Amino acid sequence: IHIIHIAAEMAPVAKVGGLGDVLTGLSRALQRKGHLVEVILPKYDCMDYSRITNLKELDLELHSVFDGHMHKNKVWSGIVEGLPVYFIEPLHPAKLFWRGKFYSEPDDFRRFTYFCRAAMEFLLQSGKRPDIIHSHDWQTAVVAPLYWEVYVPLGLDSARLAFTCHNFEYQGTENSGAIAACGLSVRDLMRPDRMQDNYFHSRINLLKGGIVFSNVVTTVSPTYAQEVLQPEDGKGLHGTLANHSKKFFGVLNGIDVEVWNPATDTLIDFQYSADDIDGKYINKQKLRERLGLGNQGGDERRPLVGCVTRLVPQKGVHLIKHAIYHTLEKGGQFILLGSSPIPQIQHEFEKISRQFKEHPQVRLVLKYDEALSHEIFAAADIFLIPSIFEPCGLTQMISMRYGTIPVVRKTGGLADSVFDVDDENISEEKKNGFVFDDANEGSLDWGLDRALDYYCRRPEWWEDLVKKAMLIDFSWETSADQYVDLYKHLLKNAQAAKQ
Ligand code: ADP
Ligand code: GLC
Repeated sequence: IHIIHIAAEMAPVAKVGGLGDVLTGLSRALQRKGHLVEVILPKYDCMDYSRITNLKELDLELHSVFDGHMHKNKVWSGIVEGLPVYFIEPLHPAKLFWRGKFYSEPDDFRRFTYFCRAAMEFLLQSGKRPDIIHSHDWQTAVVAPLYWEVYVPLGLDSARLAFTCHNFEYQGTENSGAIAACGLSVRDLMRPDRMQDNYFHSRINLLKGGIVFSNVVTTVSPTYAQEVLQPEDGKGLHGTLANHSKKFFGVLNGIDVEVWNPATDTLIDFQYSADDIDGKYINKQKLRERLGLGNQGGDERRPLVGCVTRLVPQKGVHLIKHAIYHTLEKGGQFILLGSSPIPQIQHEFEKISRQFKEHPQVRLVLKYDEALSHEIFAAADIFLIPSIFEPCGLTQMISMRYGTIPVVRKTGGLADSVFDVDDENISEEKKNGFVFDDANEGSLDWGLDRALDYYCRRPEWWEDLVKKAMLIDFSWETSADQYVDLYKHLLKNAQAAKQ
């Protein structure tokens, strides 16, 4: 199958969160299974090439220049993690992707709808005729209406469309006229059964367009796929999803087990595996030293709680804050690595960080730092994810792979991957962490206290749990097969429709 992903993120060159990890991990798994996978991304000025050995900025080749709908575009090609990638550089006077950041610009709607139109134009003009075009999140959702409304009539009609929604909170809405700039008809699309926003009727909703116009729609865990059918988690799109429920599926993400592998990870001090986890304790010691956390006397036995996250309301920021103080009270240590696109939240955490500046048991690092994230996954004993909602979540899987036991709220993909050690309804072999139900401090304490307590009082039992967690298969293998099945099903239907 020839699959082209069109997306706004791809790890490690353009990663903001899990979307970047998924793009690379899923694509690589599909490629290993023998499919031809290519990726189209914007050519951001802030891409990070430093972590890839086979790609420096200069290694990008100018592939072509083409006339787009409004402006000329350059296409650069390169290989990222073994995958062919086309980077689109719009020669647009507003310098759409020369902003020093990936998102959160006032004209994001225009930036990404322009990118999608250019990506489709590139396919048409370059003669690429994929079997599957797979787009992701609101940024590339408009690919689907563009395909049927503009490009099929022009002859780009080989493909079936897959759309994955990684988060229903971000939908990409704008005043309806904005959609005209990428060549779509406002009159045709501003209908309740098409792209009109379900709440604000004068607005156009890109995510809704992705759902309505794609042949198959997925989200990133089975539990979240159920949750979004309810008003609270569907964020206004629950009705639309219900209308399209026959083509809507939840497929649990995996992680790239080559990138996230404590036995080969060069970003950590000491490599280790489930056979020999002593290295994990060396990483813990080294990280404590580097961050100036207590490391002597009784400190060695203190449990280290880690948290690596975007600091946005979804992640339960008030619970994270509470957990810092609570861990301290209980005699543990806490490391938070996170940053926030929301200035108020960033300032709040900066205040707490200053408060603990010299403190021997708490450290807050308020930035994006890929290397430090690996060090924390390796060094911590317990990993905290108190999300209000969580479409999938990757950090619980990454932490387990590094033998760090997750404490999570039971929601979305967390509920599909973490199973409480004290839950009698769960088989022994599945138990791998601590789960709490409600998004409040009492419930969180109940989960976290048990983890801290078991760590301190039952070291041997804990070590067994660590080893067991490290051996769980979180690879993309099974999930990639599920995507292949969905693709095949689409292609079979397309074939049948032709006959
Ligand atoms: P989301 O996509 O909602 O942010 P996920 O759990 O799916 O949540 O993925 C988050 C990814 O981003 C993980 O790979 C995590 O390690 C990484 N990450 C989040 N915050 C930071 C940070 N401040 N520094 C480095 N990596 C981070
Ligand atoms: C989104 C979600 C996260 C998910 C990631 C990758 O960012 O917030 O839960 O793991 O996408 O699918």
